[in-house]
Amino acid sequence: MAVGIFDSGLGGLTVLDAVSRRLPELPLVYFGDNAHAPYGVRTADDIYDLTTRATERLFDAGCDLVILACNTASAAALRRMQEGWVPEGKRVLGVFVPLIEALTERHWGDNSPPREVGTKHVALFATPATVRSRAFQRELAFRAIGVDVEAQACGGVVDAIEEGDMILAEALVRSHVDALKRKMPEPDAAILGCTHYPLMAETFQDALGAGVKVFSQADLVAESLADYLSRRPEMRGPGSESLFLTTGKPKQVSDRATQFLHRRIEFVAA
Ligand code: DGL
Repeated sequence: MAVGIFDSGLGGLTVLDAVSRRLPELPLVYFGDNAHAPYGVRTADDIYDLTTRATERLFDAGCDLVILACNTASAAALRRMQEGWVPEGKRVLGVFVPLIEALTERHWGDNSPPREVGTKHVALFATPATVRSRAFQRELAFRAIGVDVEAQACGGVVDAIEEGDMILAEALVRSHVDALKRKMPEPDAAILGCTHYPLMAETFQDALGAGVKVFSQADLVAESLADYLSRRPEMRGPGSESLFLTTGKPKQVSDRATQFLHRRIEFVAA
């Protein structure tokens, strides 16, 4: 019955948390590649190699469906994986599409031509690799016209969160929001396009101002997964236990995860 959730580190826990609230009976196997985080400063080939290795481990743990709860991997590796790597009977999904469907007021499977939407000026906050890939703009262009996107690569934020240095993370978020506002003074909406960033959601909202709608992925991905599993119940893999795997130091990663999720989480070595 298990589903796999992957991230380069701790950020995917924001997605895991939302999924376990939406689907409390579903066992989840989490893989945090903490030893190799951050992915956002790596090359696409490197991200592909690390992501396929982690996904393989989740298949071995009894997951037939793996969610890449990492925008960087979704942007830099997912398409290549889906085109030539994912084995028969397995499925790997990313986290971009549910977010873009929400922004463009679409339901799943609505493949009608791009149209005008209410949101006109979007600020995208993401890792350098996600910004460089332009994957967000590409997915958006399939669905909407006339939306102006200004992307801000938020160097350093993932490292600070992984290190547990929330004071540094907050200072970096504020300086990245300032940089964005110099390019786009009045965004209507902001996308937190990295699963680590919801851990700093209050700082983003505060720095952006109350008038900016901040879209964050976790709940949107959880809703979309629930919908997917209701259509494809056979994609619940044979695994029966929830498990937290890390390539980092299990004790340190467990302590940080516990701090972020406000419940005790025990990671084991992947
Ligand atoms: N949580 C990952 C994402 O959504 C962070 C990537 C990184 O490790 O830089 O992009």
